[in-house]
Amino acid sequence: MHKQSQWKSSTGFILASAGSAIGLGAMWKFPYMAGVNGGGAFLLMFLVFTIFVGLPLLIMEFTVGKMGKTYTTKIYEKLTQKKWLNIIGWNGNLAVFILFGFYSVIGGWIIIYIFNVALQIITFSNDTLSAVQFEAVIGNPWLTIAGQGVFILLTMVIVMMGVEKGLEKASKFMMPLLFIFLIIIVIKSLSLDGAYEGLKYILQPRLEDITMEGVLFALGQSFFTLSLGTTGMITYASYASKEMTIKTSAVSIVAMNILVSVLAGLAIFPAIAAFGYKPTEGPGLLFKVLPKVFDQMAMGQEFYLIFLILFLFAALTSSISLLELNVSNFTKNDNSKRKPVALYASLLVFVISIPATLSFSILKGVQFAAGTIFDNMDFLVSNILMPLGALGTTLVVGQLLNKDDLKTHFGNDKFKLFMPWYYLVKFVLPVVIILIFIVQFI
Ligand code: PHE
Repeated sequence: MHKQSQWKSSTGFILASAGSAIGLGAMWKFPYMAGVNGGGAFLLMFLVFTIFVGLPLLIMEFTVGKMGKTYTTKIYEKLTQKKWLNIIGWNGNLAVFILFGFYSVIGGWIIIYIFNVALQIITFSNDTLSAVQFEAVIGNPWLTIAGQGVFILLTMVIVMMGVEKGLEKASKFMMPLLFIFLIIIVIKSLSLDGAYEGLKYILQPRLEDITMEGVLFALGQSFFTLSLGTTGMITYASYASKEMTIKTSAVSIVAMNILVSVLAGLAIFPAIAAFGYKPTEGPGLLFKVLPKVFDQMAMGQEFYLIFLILFLFAALTSSISLLELNVSNFTKNDNSKRKPVALYASLLVFVISIPATLSFSILKGVQFAAGTIFDNMDFLVSNILMPLGALGTTLVVGQLLNKDDLKTHFGNDKFKLFMPWYYLVKFVLPVVIILIFIVQFI
């Protein structure tokens, strides 16, 4: 008999799933996506999708994990007796490989920045610093490959230690600290000359800025930040004990994610305006702009270093959920195989991540469909595989699972939310996802 991993308490589950959700998505990806897709209009669409699509889907994934209680390349068969439906789990697993491949690139940048700032290689004394230094850092193929290698290695070591011993405990103080830092950055950023323009850019939705592509990206952003459609959240819920509180956990994760995304926006956009950057800088946005803000603070260099460490921590609690999904699927929850599987999966991710990282240096010129190789990997995951996975699960839940069973696992229904949630998942959300899909191909 193999023993399925389990959280010791429901707090362990909440902390881990919040850790999975809150990461680069909210802090790094949100500002750059908003910058490229019209600022306030993007924020508005992101909020609508996160609350009306993301939240019910997160509740759905938690419910499925709690009901099925097994790894996600088996759970669909277990729940429906239809083996071919496990393909939804495999789709999620594929998504996670590619996602980790490009996620580790940014994780690697953070590590390189930590070293550079700690060793004072990146200094704040030079006016041209942030943009120029950024290009120099990420334009170096070997350095960035090394950075992401370290990021993957750190993730691997943590996952090898097993769920119980993970980072959940540390996140109890690291996450609040990160919030505090974000708030300090926001205050500083808002006090800069010219900040108002940036504030207006991110807060005022100009409806004429809404494009079909922006709608798709906003949906993808909600999926990405909430880790939806990869079945990662199903995996975490499958480890949870009976007492886990699905709705409260989902609502608090969504609320925290929105808060961090908005704070990241308020930290970055006023500074963009104040320092004369373009909002459309792309993936390097955060790394170019933030040093400038810290430069305005007393002990800026030291604070920046602490911020980077907290940022790395948030990225790691997400990347461990990416690797954990592989471990769960390929060990079939047999913990004795955890170490070799974590090792092989990490090696594969490392290989996949190399073209992604080189998209910022020697493969910069390779551009097709959504942009660079990095952009295409992101597009494939966030805008195709994740929505597809979520669509598959809505169809299973809405069409094949027994309503009373769902209701039992949904738990206490004081606010009579089960029925609206159920009908949303059964009829509305699949149509919304399909429509957005179809429109992008026209
Ligand atoms: N939600 C994570 C983030 O925002 C990324 C992620 C996606 C993690 C899917 C796990 C699964 O950084």
